[in-house]
Order: sequence, then structure tokens, then C-alpha cells
Amino acid sequence: VDLHVTLAGRGDLSARIYRQLLDAVMDGRLRPGERLPPTRELAQRLAVSRNTVAVAYDRLTAEGFLVGRVGAGTFVHETATSGVRGRAAPTGRDVRPRRWWRTPPPPANTWRRLVANELRAPDAYSAHYLDPAGDPGLRAAIARHIGVSRWVHAGPDDVLVTQGAQQALDLIGRVTIEPGTCVTIEEPGYPQARLLFESLGARVVGVPVDAEGLDVTALPRTARLVYTTPSHQYPLGMPMSLARRTALLDWAGRHGALVVEDDYDSEFRFSERPLEPLQSLDRSGRVVYVGSFAKTTLPMLRLGFLVAPESLRQALRGARQLADWHGDPITQAAMARFIDEGLLARHIRRATREYAARHDRITAALARDFTDWLRVVPSAAGLHLCAHATGTSDDLDRVLALAADAGVGVGALAGSDGGAPARPGVVIGYGAVDPTLIDEGMAVLAASFRAVDPT
Ligand SMILES: Cc1ncc(COP(=O)(O)O)c(C=O)c1O
Repeated sequence: VDLHVTLAGRGDLSARIYRQLLDAVMDGRLRPGERLPPTRELAQRLAVSRNTVAVAYDRLTAEGFLVGRVGAGTFVHETATSGVRGRAAPTGRDVRPRRWWRTPPPPANTWRRLVANELRAPDAYSAHYLDPAGDPGLRAAIARHIGVSRWVHAGPDDVLVTQGAQQALDLIGRVTIEPGTCVTIEEPGYPQARLLFESLGARVVGVPVDAEGLDVTALPRTARLVYTTPSHQYPLGMPMSLARRTALLDWAGRHGALVVEDDYDSEFRFSERPLEPLQSLDRSGRVVYVGSFAKTTLPMLRLGFLVAPESLRQALRGARQLADWHGDPITQAAMARFIDEGLLARHIRRATREYAARHDRITAALARDFTDWLRVVPSAAGLHLCAHATGTSDDLDRVLALAADAGVGVGALAGSDGGAPARPGVVIGYGAVDPTLIDEGMAVLAASFRAVDPT
């Protein structure tokens, strides 16, 4: 290659040559696999000693940008790319995405097959509106699935398919909330639930949670609807204790309130025996169980469901009909097949192993390196975990900003209205992180804490 190198710049002569060659690799003028001029030739051109050029080549070779081949010369390393500007590329080992990223995700192919099958089915195209409760096959599949995986007692007729958990909350709200009705959410809690109930005219009250979940003694007597996430409290992550579950059902019975149990991500469960859902503990028809496929499959499919007591079923069907009659039957039928063929259960089993490993790795790092700054909230399910900060939220904001600058995204705990929570803390999501980068990320977070030193 006819490479243009000058001796302009700062530093000794080798450093200047090094800098220009590095720039040429980084901006693509020198491409992977390309041969560099021999040291002797470049030295002659620049009127410097051969050793001066050799020092620059050696440094770039040690940093992994160049590779020397005996008898053939010096070449730009195959993995040297502009993405690593300013950092030494690892030598010897290729930097590549995980295998999962190199091919389309397997569920995508499966999903394509299932949807194509449904589109080809002779009865795929109906000239009529369909059942507002959803595809009968999917309702049966959901009833079986949650019966096995969550001990929810339901038959196909008890299930109403929705466009995600959000529509389930919307339908429940429409049929139970009058303007001014008192609705409680957990604090901190799920902002989309708060906003939704407010939009329906409810007076929404945040009720504190502690290590056992929702503080039942703090429920206002006037509450008509209690929204809760007992399996994996959103966002803190602890499960609601059995004593609290029983107390909540008892409270609801005495006050004539409805309990909405949002079980959004509990399929990813890392403990042997989960606590029974409120729905199966309930003996008096006070619980609506809400599930979602957003975490187990993809949020954009907009698939969720609810299991309601008999007393609300007709109204919920009617509300669904008024809202959009029914969802997309093709997607619903494809999901039914996904469940019936055992693919959902298999996916959950595999993903649970993966998420459990990430959860354990992050928890171990928090217990080992962060005890001065963070107190982990014990959790055994889901795709994120939380830890309370011992310092102030201002300090924590600075820590998280430093970590973000270094490429590590960790969320700050927020209240259900998006404001400051009662206790500051962090939310660490591991649904989409590369497990091989967890230790590195946690080290960056620890360094950010040390730099701010919020003790
Ligand atoms: C508490 C909670 N409920 C439900 C959902 C899922 O909602 P949807 O099924 O509408 O996507 C989420 C998603 O993040 C959530 O955090």
C-alpha cells in the first residue's frame, strides 16, 4: 500500500509514526488484512532509522492492530476496526458478538412458521366478528399453561385474551371504576397502572411496600380496587409473603374491594416453590389475575390475558367488544400453537436458566463489592433486580451518570409517578445484557461509586 506518513505531530519520531498508522487503521484507510510497507522501506522514505519505524510497528502489533507474519511482512490485523478507537484491541482472541446475535433469534423463525401456518389455514379468514374473549384455542392453551406453571385455577371460559396486560388493566378499570373511585397502587409501583387508573377518573392512592410486599394495614378503607404485583413486586422485586397475601384477601373481603394481581414476569422464577398466586388462594371471587406474554415472548405481539371472577366476566367481555371487539386472530392462534407444541414452556425453561445465572452473578457482585453503598432487595424471579442506596439520591444520580458515561446503563428507582421514591435505589435490568460483560459492568459501577464516595 502506498501509505502517506509524515513526521508532523508531537512526541518522539516513533510515537508520531505510531499515531498516524493507528489513525489510518481506525479510519479505514488501512483495512484489515492489508500489508504495511516493510520497516526498511518506510524508514528510507521518512529518512529515519529503521529501528524508529520498527518501534512503532511493534507497539501496534502488541496492541493487536498489526500482525507480523514471518517471511511475509506486517499486516493490519483482521479484527482491527474503527469501533475500538483509543482502546487496545485484545490480541489473539476475536471480538465477536455472541452466537445468538449471529443468526436470527430461533423464536423468530418459529414464530414465522406458526404465523404462516395460520395464514394458510382454510378457516383463517372469517367474514364475521369473532369472540371478544379471544381465540378459543388460545384461551384453552393459556388455562393449561397457567394451571401448570402458576397454579392458577382456570378453565378456557375463565380466560379473556387481551392486547397485553395494559389492556387487561384498562378493561378491568372500565367495568369497575367510577369517577372518583379510590384505587390503590403500590408505592413504588408500575407507572403505567397509575396513569391508566387516573385516566379513567380514579382517585389513585400509593400504598407503601416493605420487605413482605404491600402494607395491607396502610390500605385506605375506601379503596375499591387494589392493584398489586405479588410475585415480583414492580419495581423492587420482592415477593409478597404468604401472611400478607392472606391478609390482603381478608381485607378485600371485609371492604368489598377487588384485587388485581399483575403477574407480569413471574414465569422466570429462580426458586423451587413459588408462593401461590392470590387468584388460587382466593375463595370469594375477589381477584382478577392478569398475565402478559410481553416478557416470555415479545412485547410488540401485544398479547396478554386476564382470569376474572364469574361476577365480572360478562361486563369484561362487553368492554372488550366496545374497545376493539377482539384482537388479531392470527397472532392469537399462532400463540396457541406456540404453547400447545411445548415451545413456550421450553423457551421459559431455557431462558430461566440464563436469567438465573445473570441474576446470581449480579447479586453476588452486589453482596461482595457494594455493601458500603447498596442493600440488595432479595428477589427470586423476573428480569431485573433492585438495591436501595445508603447515600442520598443526588449522590446516586452522580454515580449513575458516571457509570452511564462509561457505557453502563443502570436505572434509578422512581416512584410510581416518576418522581423521587421514598428510598433511593438502583434498578438493574438483565433481560438484555450480555452475560460475559456483567462482571465488567459491575466493576464500572463499583468504580463510579468509589469516585463519588457517597458514604
Ligand atoms: C408491572 C408490569 N405489568 C405489566 C407489564 C407488561 O405489560 P404489557 O403486557 O402491556 O406489555 C410490565 C412490563 O414491563 C410491567 O412492568
